[in-house]
Amino acid sequence: MKGLVVLVMLACLATAQHQALIDYLERRLLAIEDRISLWHEQTARYASELRELKQQMVAQLENLDKEKEVLRGSLDSVGTRVDRVERELDYLETQNGAQPCVDVDDKLIEQQVTLVKEKQKAKYLKQSDCSDMISSIKAMKILKHVGGPKGTWAKDSGLGSGKVYVFNGTDGDTVNEFPSVQDFARSQGGLSPSTELRLPSRWRGTGHVVHRGHVYYVSRSAEEGEPRVIKYDMRNGTVVDSAVFPARDHVPVYGLSPDTVVDLAVDEEGLWAVYASRHDQRHVSLAKMDADTLDVEHTWDTPCARENAEAAFVICGTLYVVYNTQQPGRSRIQCVFDANGVVADEEAPLVYFPKRYGAHASLKYNPKEQLLYAWDDGYQILYRLAMKKKLEFADPGFHSLTGRSLPTAILDPLRQS
Ligand SMILES: *[C@@H]1O[C@H](CO)[C@@H](O)[C@H](O)[C@H]1NC(C)=O
Ligand SMILES: *[C@@H]1O[C@H](CO)[C@@H](O)[C@H](O)[C@H]1NC(C)=O
Repeated sequence: MKGLVVLVMLACLATAQHQALIDYLERRLLAIEDRISLWHEQTARYASELRELKQQMVAQLENLDKEKEVLRGSLDSVGTRVDRVERELDYLETQNGAQPCVDVDDKLIEQQVTLVKEKQKAKYLKQSDCSDMISSIKAMKILKHVGGPKGTWAKDSGLGSGKVYVFNGTDGDTVNEFPSVQDFARSQGGLSPSTELRLPSRWRGTGHVVHRGHVYYVSRSAEEGEPRVIKYDMRNGTVVDSAVFPARDHVPVYGLSPDTVVDLAVDEEGLWAVYASRHDQRHVSLAKMDADTLDVEHTWDTPCARENAEAAFVICGTLYVVYNTQQPGRSRIQCVFDANGVVADEEAPLVYFPKRYGAHASLKYNPKEQLLYAWDDGYQILYRLAMKKKLEFADPGFHSLTGRSLPTAILDPLRQS
């Protein structure tokens, strides 16, 4: 009997405990439910805030788009106005000729003139009777888009072969050969190995030319540092000659083309080199070379600045330096230096290249065709030049269209060698 009572009491106790546990659990569940509904509320609020933010952003983006359009419109109109000013300036240049901006005693000029003339006569005799200079760029033809943004291409100047050579990039040891410009233009698959020739050493920069079956390329070994001009016979694959070029300190010849230390050029009178000399690093220097022996025959310090120059070429003994801007804009010939001392101020117009807003990695003149072979941001372009006669009365040295400087072209008789 006593045992039964104990049992009932135990059972009651257990039930009470059970109830307490259930109560407790219910309370916890309620608390959790409360929290969950709070979270729901918060999430909904966040979501709606996000939606609002998104709507605001979309509206602002639309506004920005509109402003961009307006800006582009006004840029376009500024562009046309700049063009008009350029044309008007061009016109004024041709109408008025150029006035020097400094007054210098006339006698002094005359003295300098005779001095320079005599010096030039003594130092450099023209090898051809060509007397042409650029009057404008008549036409442009985009031939192909092949290879990297920088490179050189040129046709053999001086042989009837008409072969075309392509140096892709600014560093390599191969050159691609095509039988003609048309073959190059039609070639499929770009620069395939089937057109590739291997040269005996690496070339650097964009200074190479091809002349009478020979490639003249600029190579620079790491230990040597000094640029070397190599003359390579394409027909039997031999290095005919090579010479260390007297340009020092790895200074790029053009401010906007950091890879090119020496730029070679061919014109009616033969082989030329454009470089930054040791003693005048602010301006471009010019050297006449013997295409057979690679001797440097004469050097000149020109008044043409290296800053913002991108390329240059030589026609009939006159150096034309092409300038651009850091953000590629419109290229223009803005400095002219005549090694023969003939080109007069009013005879050298400011020549603008057709609008492309690219950057010329190289410009190679072909004297037979009076064409410029240009490499512009991976495009191979031909520029057809309109020429006119240089005035044959003497006005010495150079003039610079930028600075309107007076003639001070002083010969630099082989100071480097
Ligand atoms: C041309 O040269 C560029 C580097 O300048 C290189 O990336 C590209 O692969 C080259 N193209 C060919 C066809 O060799
Ligand atoms: C290569 O040809 C040139 C003439 O074109 C010649 O002077 C030279 O000796 C030749 N070299 C060899 C190794 O045959």
